[in-house]
Amino acid sequence: MSVCTAQQLSRYSGDGFLVLPDFVSTHECDSLRSRATEMVSAFDPGELKSIFSTHEQSRTTDDYFLTSGDKIRFFFEEHAFNSDGTLKQPKEQSINKIGHALHDLDAVFNRFSRTPKLGELVEDLEIEDPLLLQSMYIFKQPNIGGEVTCHQDSTFLYTEPNAIAGLWFAIEDATTENGCLWAIPGGHQAGLKSRWLRGQNGMEFRVSDSTAWPEEELVPLEVAKGSLILLNGLLPHRSYENKSDRSRHAYTLHVISAAANYPKDNWLQRTTPLRGFE
Ligand code: FE2
Repeated sequence: MSVCTAQQLSRYSGDGFLVLPDFVSTHECDSLRSRATEMVSAFDPGELKSIFSTHEQSRTTDDYFLTSGDKIRFFFEEHAFNSDGTLKQPKEQSINKIGHALHDLDAVFNRFSRTPKLGELVEDLEIEDPLLLQSMYIFKQPNIGGEVTCHQDSTFLYTEPNAIAGLWFAIEDATTENGCLWAIPGGHQAGLKSRWLRGQNGMEFRVSDSTAWPEEELVPLEVAKGSLILLNGLLPHRSYENKSDRSRHAYTLHVISAAANYPKDNWLQRTTPLRGFE
């Protein structure tokens, strides 16, 4: 059974994204949010405080990140720390995101990520024999929520042939004030500009098109809590810093096809097999 109308699918293929309002209930959003909060409370960072930043990404990425593809790990906001390395505020207001296998390892996230409705939705996107590759719970903290510079998700998660879909669930209202997504409508049609891969000397960007993004074409995707935004892996998108006093929580899933080749030089590697929606 189809979840999207033919008109919605044609918008997805033209724009590279599609907003589905009221896709999940307020109750489901709240239960993910409280589970994420519980996980952060139970997390003891110890000495190791790994940050997530899209600035100088290859340099700031560490082994804790690179081995997180089949684990649940916690990444701090770049601006969470004082100059002596201590946190400016409690860890609950300092975590940028949790990743990258919540959908496999946590019962609450597993249940949310593998509903029949989501399985049917991904069938609509014509991803043959879909597999859930990655999940993230993103906090976009008040005041310090970092920007994510303009990118294509396929730069980071690449398959041959190149086909990946991102599912972005608004766990809270997302507006221009608290750092909503922005995207370039139709920008996916220009192809992939670069790959971020495991090179001989660590992570590196391999650039095939070095022209700048036409960021003047970005449009804000302001959505209400419970909305789902579908994103083609080639769609250029970004988000700005959250300078407001409201968080902007989101949960994301990335889906690939079992029929595609998943290269060994992608950053995300697993020791356990990927699973679909069953
Ligand atoms: Fe992205």
